[in-house]
Formats: sequence, structure tokens, C-alpha cells
Amino acid sequence: MKNRIYFFTGTGNSLHLAEKIGERVGDCELVSIRANTDLSIPKDLDRLGFVFPVYFWGLPAIVSKFLTKARFPAQGQTYVFVAPTFGGIIGNSVPQAKRLLSQQGISLNYGAGLKMFKNAVTFYEMKEDVQEITRKTDEKAVPLIEAIAEKKENETGKGFKFVDKLHGKNVPLFAEKAKSFNVSDDCLSCGICANICPVQNIDMSEGKPTFGDKCESCLACLQHCPKRAINDGDKTQKRRRYTHPDVGYSEIMKYAR
Ligand SMILES: Cc1cc2nc3c(=O)[nH]c(=O)nc-3n(C[C@H](O)[C@H](O)[C@H](O)COP(=O)(O)O)c2cc1C
Repeated sequence: MKNRIYFFTGTGNSLHLAEKIGERVGDCELVSIRANTDLSIPKDLDRLGFVFPVYFWGLPAIVSKFLTKARFPAQGQTYVFVAPTFGGIIGNSVPQAKRLLSQQGISLNYGAGLKMFKNAVTFYEMKEDVQEITRKTDEKAVPLIEAIAEKKENETGKGFKFVDKLHGKNVPLFAEKAKSFNVSDDCLSCGICANICPVQNIDMSEGKPTFGDKCESCLACLQHCPKRAINDGDKTQKRRRYTHPDVGYSEIMKYAR
């Protein structure tokens, strides 16, 4: 295929945007960034994109790792873009991606984010109106998608030094890392959490999920659980859950290899 978009997602926002971009540009393969994603990026692509959520004002660790370890062919004519989705503060995500790409000899042609539903339920009550924000988000996505379709270029800036400093060193500290995740008796042992986890951090061998130490903080397990049986300490029992209305578990699993 001519176009390829690598995406990472917990609750479907980033996959939704990646799918919309893919539909618009056509002839596009979407590849999920998971623990076992093939690191060789094909050559002679027309467009190469990365769509992912902003975590802690920057790149999710799994995306940084992917951009650092992937094997990029020489850029040639390939148009390269990043499109982070975020809940309120895009932070340094675009400049961070730009820097990692540049260390691989790849120039970023375009980078812009899309504000979507704020999904970090372990940090706050998610109060936004899902229908309303989804409608607004789809509207706001149009110029971003058109810019990528037309191969527009932009300057993306350098970001804030203090964010990079904080981000680089401290993300593992303030990431949830599933240490405090627990499972209530409502658990059906359905395995949705283990299947959707992008890094196989959930073990079902005892019948109920147990969490390892590889968590990427995407909250997919907690958010997609049909019984709301997974919680973070005692913080989330009363909080609602969120998954993108058009991108549920089965859609995300279509891309999980
Ligand atoms: C661990 C974590 C950290 C987050 N940090 C930020 C942040 O720094 N700034 C922001 O605007 N949104 C932040 N968010 C919200 C997500 O970036 C946003 O909801 C995104 O669209 C979710 O995408 P997804 O559905 O593809 O996972 C965070 C979410 C999580 C789970």
C-alpha cells in the first residue's frame, strides 16, 4: 500500500483519527503499535504517519521506543506526519516525535494534534459529554485530515525544556504502571483486558487478570472491561468509563496481531 499509519490507542480516539485519515488519503494500511509490532518500515511510501495519545504532556513510552527502534528506510519522497490526540494539553508530543524521527534521519513534514475526549479516568472524573465532544472532534479533525491529504508542511517548534526534563526522567514515576490495579468479584474472566493490552501485561492463567510490570498506562483494560471490574486502588469504582463511540474493543482487536 502507498500510505501507512502507525497508531497507538487505549480507548479508540487515536485509532478513530487514524482511520479517518486513512479513508481520506486512500490505499492506506493501519498498523497497531504493540509489543510485537514489526520494526521495519517499508520504503517508497507516499505517506507515513504516527497517531497516538498524549501522555503526561509528551509521547507515550511505547511510542518513543517505537520511534527510536524502528528501522526507517531513506526518506526519499515520503511525506511524514504525526497527529497526537489529547484531552487538553498537547505539550511536547510533536517536538518529541520530531526529534526522535530526526535522530533516525527522517524529517517531519507536518505535526498537529486533535483535542478529543479526555480519558485519564485514574486521575479525574471524566465529565465531558461524549456525544457532544465526539461531534465537535469530528468537525475539528477535518482541517487536520485535509492538511495531511494535501501534504501540507508546518513548523512544529521545540516545545518546553522543562516538560522534556520532567517527561524524560519522571514518566515511569507518575505512570500508573498497574501497580494499584485490582479486580472485583464482578469479573467474568472474559479475557478482554488481556487481549486488548498492547504489551501482554495481563495474565489470565488463574482465571482472573493479574497485572505485570510492563504497563504502558493506556487504561484499555480498565476502560473496556464490560463489568467495570478493574479499578485503580479505590479511585475509580464510582467513575464512569469511556471508549470512543465508533471504536470499541472489536475494532481495536482487528489490528492486534
Ligand atoms: C496516562 C494518561 C496520560 C495522559 N496525559 C495527557 C496529557 O498530558 N495531556 C492531555 O491533553 N491529555 C492526556 N491524556 C488524555 C489522552 O491523551 C486523550 O484522551 C487521548 O485522546 C486518548 O487517546 P486513545 O483513546 O487513543 O487512547 C492522558 C491519558 C492517559 C491515559
